[in-house]
Amino acid sequence: MTKLTPTIAIDGPAASGKGTLARRLAEYFRFHHLDTGLTYRGVAHALIEANMPLDNEDMACLVAEKLDLGSLNKDILSAHEIGDAASKVAVMSRVRETLVEAQRKFANKEPGAVLDGRDIGTVVCPQAEIKLYITASPEKRAERRYREVGEKGSGAEYSQILADIIKRDERDMGRADSPLKPAENAHLIDTSEMSIETAFSTALALVEEALSE
Ligand code: CDP
Repeated sequence: MTKLTPTIAIDGPAASGKGTLARRLAEYFRFHHLDTGLTYRGVAHALIEANMPLDNEDMACLVAEKLDLGSLNKDILSAHEIGDAASKVAVMSRVRETLVEAQRKFANKEPGAVLDGRDIGTVVCPQAEIKLYITASPEKRAERRYREVGEKGSGAEYSQILADIIKRDERDMGRADSPLKPAENAHLIDTSEMSIETAFSTALALVEEALSE
């Protein structure tokens, strides 16, 4: 590897498999990993706990400024409803500015970092050495989410999860600030018909090639 402090940027819609890939790539390269979705989820969760409306931008900004990236509890924050609430918080530009600043600081950690989210390759780290855009059909993504939430004992219906995923895609892709879309120089990986292992080896080959250039 020749690059100093490289950044691996991974974007994609809900349940596309980007989180698993990001975690595995970070383990493989011994890089730091930030699931930036957790930062939006953290703000949404704090507002819900404080009984505040999700569109109160001043309050959301205060929460975002105080957010400690090291203490985001994935177990609490990964609840399906919090994902939905996070995408409502994520349309507010001042909240995004605050969180993006913290995410950029994280990206500079040595010896390198993997960040996954919706706008990593386009806005947070446009200079990233390698950008991956991970996608899959809404039906496959809903199946994966259904299995995940089922394992945690939640009784959510498949049809409801699919409807939520489609609604969230629309909100994330249609918002004015930092909409979800592949960066121009991103490599697209459709994981609809891929096992986790195949997706990982496909991503790893692309990352290794980019980091050795
Ligand atoms: O895990 P999942 O893909 O369902 O969602 P997530 O990555 O935890 O993100 C939750 C929500 O936060 C998304 O639907 C986006 O609206 C927002 N988000 C964002 O706007 N920008 C990011 N870099 C990451 C997440």
